[in-house]
Amino acid sequence: MPVPAPSSSTEQTPRAAAVDTPAAARRRTFAIISHPDAGKTTLTEKILLHAGAVSEAGSVRARRQARSTVSDWMEIERRRGISISSTVLRFESDGWLFNLVDAPGHADFSEDTYRTLWAVDAALMVVDGTRGLEQQTLKLFEVCRRRHLPIVTFINKCDRPGIEPLALLDEIEQRIGLPPIPVTWPVGTDGQLDAIVDLSTEAVAEVDATAHGATIGEQRLTPVAAWQPAPGREKAWQDALEEIELVRHGTPSPSPADVHAGRLTPVFFGSALTNQGINSLLDGLTRYMPSPQPLTSADGREQPLDGPFSAQVFKVQANLDPRHRDRVAFLRVHSGSFARGMSVYNSRTGRRVSLAHAHEMFGQERETISEAGPGDVVGVVNASGVLLGDTLAEDPATRFPPIPAFLPEHFAYLRNLDGKRYKRFHAGLQQLDEEGVIRLLEPVAVDGERVVGVVGPLQLEVTAERMATEFDCPVRVDMAPYELARWISDDTVPSLPTRRGVLTVRDGAGRHLVLFSNRFAMERLQQDQPDLQLLTEPPAS
Ligand code: G4P
Repeated sequence: MPVPAPSSSTEQTPRAAAVDTPAAARRRTFAIISHPDAGKTTLTEKILLHAGAVSEAGSVRARRQARSTVSDWMEIERRRGISISSTVLRFESDGWLFNLVDAPGHADFSEDTYRTLWAVDAALMVVDGTRGLEQQTLKLFEVCRRRHLPIVTFINKCDRPGIEPLALLDEIEQRIGLPPIPVTWPVGTDGQLDAIVDLSTEAVAEVDATAHGATIGEQRLTPVAAWQPAPGREKAWQDALEEIELVRHGTPSPSPADVHAGRLTPVFFGSALTNQGINSLLDGLTRYMPSPQPLTSADGREQPLDGPFSAQVFKVQANLDPRHRDRVAFLRVHSGSFARGMSVYNSRTGRRVSLAHAHEMFGQERETISEAGPGDVVGVVNASGVLLGDTLAEDPATRFPPIPAFLPEHFAYLRNLDGKRYKRFHAGLQQLDEEGVIRLLEPVAVDGERVVGVVGPLQLEVTAERMATEFDCPVRVDMAPYELARWISDDTVPSLPTRRGVLTVRDGAGRHLVLFSNRFAMERLQQDQPDLQLLTEPPAS
């Protein structure tokens, strides 16, 4: 269906190509959530390898390492062996189009991770089968649950002796309260993974080992009834058959509708390292993850997938590639189709934004994009005046609900160590505030230094590193004497006292918060003003 021109448009812009709903139906947009070291990087590589998007695993990691040696702001990632910036991998396989958005997984929380989960339709939860569920996975899972994101589970490292599969399923059910329904089952849990049984196709999958698992070895599929274990491995096979019998008893195979509704999680077993169980998992991603669905804009209108183009900015990052020194806005497309060179409205400002420099992202690599539809994530380079959460759409009236703002939990003062670099200092802080790396909090009604608020302390470390390397402006981070914050509505600001341990501030978007030195200070204010609403979420504007 051709997309109608916006009625208020007088400029000539290229028309969007037609999008039909099947284009959305073949897309899957997801993030991987896991605890550090569970194998997310390895699994990502193997998904790309099995999808045919790379010919040899190791290339993504090699690129990441190569990049972090040339990129200075990535230094902190290299040093701490963590991934901080979300990257996007867009790839095709068998007619399916995947957008894999990397949700940084490190022990500290960062808002970037939350926002990444805002942009996807489902999550793949990777669990280290030798360790079970770990803290970071549980936290990320909670965010997914709040977002009502369907979750597919992959139990990794089954090539090593670990926790028994039945015990792992029990643990998932007990700790996250989501019934896990196995779709595949491992044969050999003693550190020798013989094969993976796909319970939906009744086939046993074997893969020959290759050097470092960098390429996929010879693969064989045998019907369960005909499969013979290797000599000496009969017991492992017998155990697997008994366990399969047990788990099948009383548990029907998972239905995609139940997964989409968050009633259960389908579970796949395997080993990313040895390429086992990856093909079934890839099938599972298409079978159990939902395709992009129409989103409702802030005024309650549903945006049909095949309607005019609309997208929301979920991440803004400057200097992603130090060779370019530019600013990339990442958009999640919600409806319509993107055409090269089109220009759209930023509904917050009413201004037109050219999408001439939109790129398909493959990690840090960029390719000029020619076509994108609902579910796709594209990076727009140097989209001026575009901020986190902005809606970019052909229809200027389309505006999506804001991306949630999280309460800062750590507070600091950033001190400029070189007085001559006053301008850079402010430009740097401004940029990091716009990207959502920090929240700059300006005291209201009293003179005072700006406080920097963050959700995870790592964000402060990243800030100091980026200020020094990108803005050439070294800073010192001094912790500020506040421990917690609450949002308040604008009309309550005048009633707030100026007293020790209580500070009213305004963030970059003009919203107000109160910072407290400790819980007692908050309780005292609440006692003094019982009607004052101290909120954990920003009031609707
Ligand atoms: P992450 O991104 O979640 O942090 O994990 P990553 O993939 O980097 O994997 C962490 C470690 O676990 C790596 O070992 C990796 O090789 C190993 N690993 C990943 N998947 C599997 C698996 O299925 N089986 C086994 N046995 N190991 C797995 P490393 O020694 O830290 O790094 P490397 O020297 O192997 O690169």
